Amino acid sequence: MAEVELSLNERKVLLALSGKDGMQPEELQREGGFSQMVEVMSAASWLKSKGLLDIHERIETSYTLDREGRQHVERGELPEFTLLRAFKNADRLEASKLHEAGMPRGTVEIALGWLKRKGWVSVNKEGGKSFATITEEGKRRLAEGPLSEDLRLLKAVAGAGEGGLPEEEAKRLGPQALSLLLTRKGLLKARERHVRSLSLTEKGNKLAGSGLRVGEEITQLTPELLQSGRWKDAELRPYDVHTFAPASYGGKAHVLRESIARIRDIFLHMGFTEIRGDYVDSCFWNMDVLFIPQDHPARDAQDTFYMKNPARAEFPAELAEKVKKLHETGGDTGSEGWKYKWSEEEAHRTLLRTHTTVNTIRYLSEHPEPPVKVFSVGKVFRREATDPKHLAEFHQIEGIVMEEGANFRMLIGLIQEFYARMGFPEVRVRPSYFPYTEPSLEVVVNFDGKWMELGGAGIFRPEVTAPFGLKHPVLAWGLGLERLVMKRYGISDMRLLYMGDLEWMRKTPIL
Ligand code: PHE
Repeated sequence: MAEVELSLNERKVLLALSGKDGMQPEELQREGGFSQMVEVMSAASWLKSKGLLDIHERIETSYTLDREGRQHVERGELPEFTLLRAFKNADRLEASKLHEAGMPRGTVEIALGWLKRKGWVSVNKEGGKSFATITEEGKRRLAEGPLSEDLRLLKAVAGAGEGGLPEEEAKRLGPQALSLLLTRKGLLKARERHVRSLSLTEKGNKLAGSGLRVGEEITQLTPELLQSGRWKDAELRPYDVHTFAPASYGGKAHVLRESIARIRDIFLHMGFTEIRGDYVDSCFWNMDVLFIPQDHPARDAQDTFYMKNPARAEFPAELAEKVKKLHETGGDTGSEGWKYKWSEEEAHRTLLRTHTTVNTIRYLSEHPEPPVKVFSVGKVFRREATDPKHLAEFHQIEGIVMEEGANFRMLIGLIQEFYARMGFPEVRVRPSYFPYTEPSLEVVVNFDGKWMELGGAGIFRPEVTAPFGLKHPVLAWGLGLERLVMKRYGISDMRLLYMGDLEWMRKTPIL
């Protein structure tokens, strides 16, 4: 046989496998005294590329108990056996009376189904009523007790320990019982595991058995090799980019963190100051001050999370008086108001903020002097069903500019500038409506060929600015963070951002 060059690790793997049917890498690591699995797999894939070794992969299924399976094992019988006991003193029972067997509702029907399927009870109709009759097989089973083949298998699974009962074993114990148990919900959980096995090829076995002196292949040039001149005679291993090597990923920020940092950077560079606010606030600040009428659908408990504790929040009575007038008659703003009776009690209720506009209006109330340029990135809460584009908790990028002569064109320019700096020069704005702004706009961006709404903006109405005596226009916006991140990272399901999927986080390059 021609001389084959092997590294030390390859030689160790080759010898360990010699004369064996195959070994799992874990076993090999132990027996070969390798400190790391990488060494085994790297040597194995080199041997494979030299035609000396095969790597087989198969999927091994094992079973553990699911919730109901555990209950049945604890009780020591399956529900159908419990029902079968009802036939101890009577061969025939009216089906509707079976509930008297003392089983929870809903389970009787299922248990009866299994009794029929197992052929222990038969059901027939007579005069519009259903009757269940125990069969001869049923009587035999009743006498034998609850330990049927399927329960026995469940018990074996229960006793199998953490790794579960391997499928082969389960099939050996009761092939029919297994397929029966698998058709039932909540009894067994199947777990799949990839099992690798390494074995030598014929060529590999021959080499291992030939007692041939195997030359040593050098995988790394050392100063010692260079200085001594030994490198001249050494056999240097060529590169092979197809062999196994573990992927290595550095630590990095999550895509949401990265995006928030970028957004901060942009607003700070544009001369804005960052502000923060609390998650819990009053309806008063979150809605009433913003001229959202008390019968607005967004205030419905379907859309907003109200708090039980604390259930009530205070606010300045003087300000409440002004807000009440604005809602009812429009005060002296020239507005007609919403023309209804404003309830102070309603305004005292507490909620999880539904938008971060509550931050900016609170800030304005404390800083009514122009110019004001502030922004925030914060979490908001809405009672939404989650789907690829909606979450019940998400973040808004909020901001305002109050200065003399501020106008709608500036607002559009600001928003477009922000998105352009985020890498999206192609956002569009279109007319929209919010109770607190006039005019109002909506930002949309093309996503997968459809227009996706990214957020809203507008100029605060006089009904909002009047109570604070603000003299200049206030440009305001509230933009969704997660949707922007979806677009930024090409993610089609927003939920991915919160699933903690390590694999995905590692593989997603941070911008
Ligand atoms: N608060 C609005 C929302 O939650 C966004 C918005 C903010 C609209 C400021 C206009 C002005 O969608």
